[in-house]
Amino acid sequence: MTKSNISSLIGRRVWDSRGNPTVEVTVILQNGTLGRAIAPAGASRGKREAVDLRDGGKRLGGMDVQKALRGINTHISAALIGMDALAQIEVDNALLELDDTPLKSELGGNATIATSLAVLHAAAAYNNQPLWRHIATSYNRSPTIPLPEIQIFGGGAHAGRRVDIQDFMVMVPGAESFDEVMEVTSEIYRAAGAIMMQKGHSVGVADEGGWWPVFDSNEEALETLVSAIEAAGEKPGDRVVISLDIAASEFEENGKYRLALEDRTLDTDEMIEMLGGWLKNYPIASIEDPLAEDDVAGMAAFTAAFGDQVQIIGDDYLVTNAKLVEEAASQKACNAVLIKVNQAGTVTEAVNAFAAAENAGYRSVVSARSGETEDVSISHLAVGLNSGQLKVGSFTRSERMAKWNECLRIQDELGAVAFVGGSPLSATWWGKAQQGKTK
Ligand code: PGA
Ligand code: ZN
Repeated sequence: MTKSNISSLIGRRVWDSRGNPTVEVTVILQNGTLGRAIAPAGASRGKREAVDLRDGGKRLGGMDVQKALRGINTHISAALIGMDALAQIEVDNALLELDDTPLKSELGGNATIATSLAVLHAAAAYNNQPLWRHIATSYNRSPTIPLPEIQIFGGGAHAGRRVDIQDFMVMVPGAESFDEVMEVTSEIYRAAGAIMMQKGHSVGVADEGGWWPVFDSNEEALETLVSAIEAAGEKPGDRVVISLDIAASEFEENGKYRLALEDRTLDTDEMIEMLGGWLKNYPIASIEDPLAEDDVAGMAAFTAAFGDQVQIIGDDYLVTNAKLVEEAASQKACNAVLIKVNQAGTVTEAVNAFAAAENAGYRSVVSARSGETEDVSISHLAVGLNSGQLKVGSFTRSERMAKWNECLRIQDELGAVAFVGGSPLSATWWGKAQQGKTK
């Protein structure tokens, strides 16, 4: 056995930001090096993503993870002990061999991603490298500090469906450093809170820490976001732009889109028209899942109409899957991909989806889930892969702030020059506005 071989691998139950059980894996190598990671959990899940294995039944709302832990502590540990932690692809292939179901329904994507990430951490520690550097070295990338997308108002499945749209976010592509993004966003978040307070609508926060969306229409949330940007002393569309996650699969029923808050139902064309109106009237630079995961024709039509002026991200639609990204590219649907490691279930598959996006000329946004923990692996992944963008929720709550704060630490190690600034969005509304060419 060499020193980098896995000598023990243990799963344990820990708890996430919603108070739900989740899976943590600790890997120890022959020389005593330790790697550890925790699986996140989504609430608005794509139907083609790796299964989040839960026990079901009444206890803990059916959310316990004893089955997933048994898989880790029996099959996975038996297969991986003795393997070289530096051989990530072989480790991930071994996981795929243990569970060859299409969606990892036997072991659970939560079990496999915690294992796969823990091995990645152990390999980085074995090489005496911070995780971001290990990732950059392993995949031959130039590390950069990503541009954040930060939620100001939650919605959809993260806020009891109080509004239909899931995420109302800001990006600060005009900032010169990651610190500046943090400061500008903090002012906007405060200003939004003050507006909600003034209106008597301050009733707490949604699952990812954005303000609870007490609004009479979905568009009122957008208007309020613009007011908050202005109240923070910024000119909307100048260095601050808006990013939306529509998460349209969540309110699609039989091919129609049901906006419950507004008591109206739209077909695909009407949905595209409504969103097109928003793109015209608000400085929106990025929009995620504008149509449902099965509405491929809608996604292609939306991309044909607006793909040259806005970033269009596939999340539920592409589920961090290289094959689906290639298919979308051939159908000219979307121009960017959300990378959520647990949708794929292993590090290697997530990196493959990232590579497929790059091959297709699509941008990538590394993303957290709505159920998160203190685990900051994705901050390192975004930096190490040079994804350009990172989405982890709002500007409160430590499961979110831990990821932003980790980027600040990495920025100090890397040097400020590494911040990507406006580059990932240069071909979008924001970029055109900067060139004075807005339509
Ligand atoms: P989820 O939502 O983690 O609840 O799936 C996040 C997103 O849709 O981007
Ligand atoms: Zn999404």
